[in-house]
Amino acid sequence: MTDHVHDVLIIGSGAAGLTLALKLNSSLRVAVLSKAELTDASTYYAQGGVAAVMDETDSTGAHVADTLVAGAGLCHEDAVRFTVEHGPDAMRWLIGQGVSFTLDADEQPHLTREGGHSHRRILHAADATGRAISTTLVARVRECANVELLENRVAVDLITSHKLGLPGENRVLGAYVLHTATGEVEVFRAKFVAVATGGASKAYLYTSNPDIATGDGIAMAWRAGCRVANLEFNQFHPTCLYHPQAKSYLITEAMRGEGAYLRLPNGERFMPRFDERAELAPRDIVARAIDYEMKRLGIRCVYLDITHKPADFITSHFPNIYQKCLEFGIDITKDPIPVVPAAHFTCGGVMVDLHSRTDIANLYAIGETSFTGLHGANRMASNSLLECFVFAMAAATDIQERVATQPLPPALPSWDASKVRNPDEDVVILHNWEELRRFMWDYVGIVRTDKRLTRALRRVELLKSEIQEYYTHYFISTNLIELRNLVLVAELIIRCAQQRKESRGLHYTLDYPETAALAQDSILDPEALAQTR
Ligand code: FAD
Ligand code: SIN
Repeated sequence: MTDHVHDVLIIGSGAAGLTLALKLNSSLRVAVLSKAELTDASTYYAQGGVAAVMDETDSTGAHVADTLVAGAGLCHEDAVRFTVEHGPDAMRWLIGQGVSFTLDADEQPHLTREGGHSHRRILHAADATGRAISTTLVARVRECANVELLENRVAVDLITSHKLGLPGENRVLGAYVLHTATGEVEVFRAKFVAVATGGASKAYLYTSNPDIATGDGIAMAWRAGCRVANLEFNQFHPTCLYHPQAKSYLITEAMRGEGAYLRLPNGERFMPRFDERAELAPRDIVARAIDYEMKRLGIRCVYLDITHKPADFITSHFPNIYQKCLEFGIDITKDPIPVVPAAHFTCGGVMVDLHSRTDIANLYAIGETSFTGLHGANRMASNSLLECFVFAMAAATDIQERVATQPLPPALPSWDASKVRNPDEDVVILHNWEELRRFMWDYVGIVRTDKRLTRALRRVELLKSEIQEYYTHYFISTNLIELRNLVLVAELIIRCAQQRKESRGLHYTLDYPETAALAQDSILDPEALAQTR
């Protein structure tokens, strides 16, 4: 049994995990785990950019105010202010690392615009910002002798003092990790653990996210005893390419920021009927309007049209989208793009404070896995990457201040695989994956009702018991680990949605269409839920 010992174990190699690794002092022994390759993360696929106040006509107050409006009364103002105030420094750090943002004529970062933003404040690398960030940070972290980069490692569960029956406050000690190349479950112990595992949008049938987005960090932290909040606010991005061969391909909101219109099949622009900001209304409003029109007219998609702009403007601003659409026979300089909404971002997550600390001692949660209070009931475009950088930096500072006083955990028990055997029917896993994602889309999607949520919970409970039985009796695989996590996160999404007896931001229910006067988070506590069973 391999025993890995580090000061800091970082689970995840997206913007959040890599930033933390780079910000920690080089005297610390650090491990970064990735399920697959290091760049296999939502970060790599980000298109639009990163929001930060970089222009003298813009202000912290304006960025804060826009975020609060998009968040529909549920943002934590301290978290918003903290994030926005640290934004410009985070951008300067990224530029210092070598991220090649698109520049304007004055050699300053070109700022584009997206929904909800009152100013141009999105730094971007054409329409492939995530690729520029991810490849740059991976290159930098490869230069760090103190950081061990471990690909094809799937964290299975966190190891805590309470799980081992140790007295005192609950403290994280490490994690069990499947090495997918060998099938061995290895033990990692560390003074500090950070979950930076991204979101859970794979809970839905249609999503813009890569396959890794299965909510592993949320599920692991919950099983370890952390509270989670506001998981009902899963954001649906209004414009994913609608084409049978295009899996999860996003058409950036920056295209609407640069003037694209949404049209019905007959060419009619419909967004002005729904909101005075038209195509630049926040995402929840645009996605719901598209969903409404698709259901009203019985159509499979709507169209995003930028053909009224000059062809060279389109190809220089959106070179990757132009090429990708051409592969599917769509010339975006001449043809409107068929689009549909798809699950895109998990606004809720593991509850943390402004140091990124969770409820468990020495366990941090950063990036999309976490709930910082920044996004409220609806995330504003390009605030997510910003949150990854700012809160990873906060975690690094906190860990640095505390590391000298924390002991290394003792040797931890090995993973016990003595009672499991090879699975006989893997089709069960495939079937359950499909069933889960289908009913989450149908019953817990853009428009909800009490009845749909009750139905979904009943199915989740059944799947959960089937999957748990499988997990107990057979050797584990990536597929099984992910499904076990996703079904748990689906349950938490539904339970948060059931708590919310109102419509607000991304949570819209026909049973309570009004917004309540008092804005409250939906908080779930594992201990309290266990007592109700
Ligand atoms: P990720 O980047 O998703 O990284 C998660 C990491 O965790 C991966 O390395 C994965 O392998 C690892 N991991 C997961 N589970 C395990 C496990 N069990 N064991 C080991 N490793 C694990 N936001 C913006 O602000 N601006 C944008 O322009 C933008 N565009 C987007 C476009 C697309 C197509 C998508 C999908 C998202 C976009 N977002 C954007 C959202 C943003 O990209 C993500 O919220 C952000 O990148 C999340 O970063 P992260 O570090 O938290 O997680
Ligand atoms: C996009 O480019 O539309 C995605 C931006 C985001 O999710 O913040």
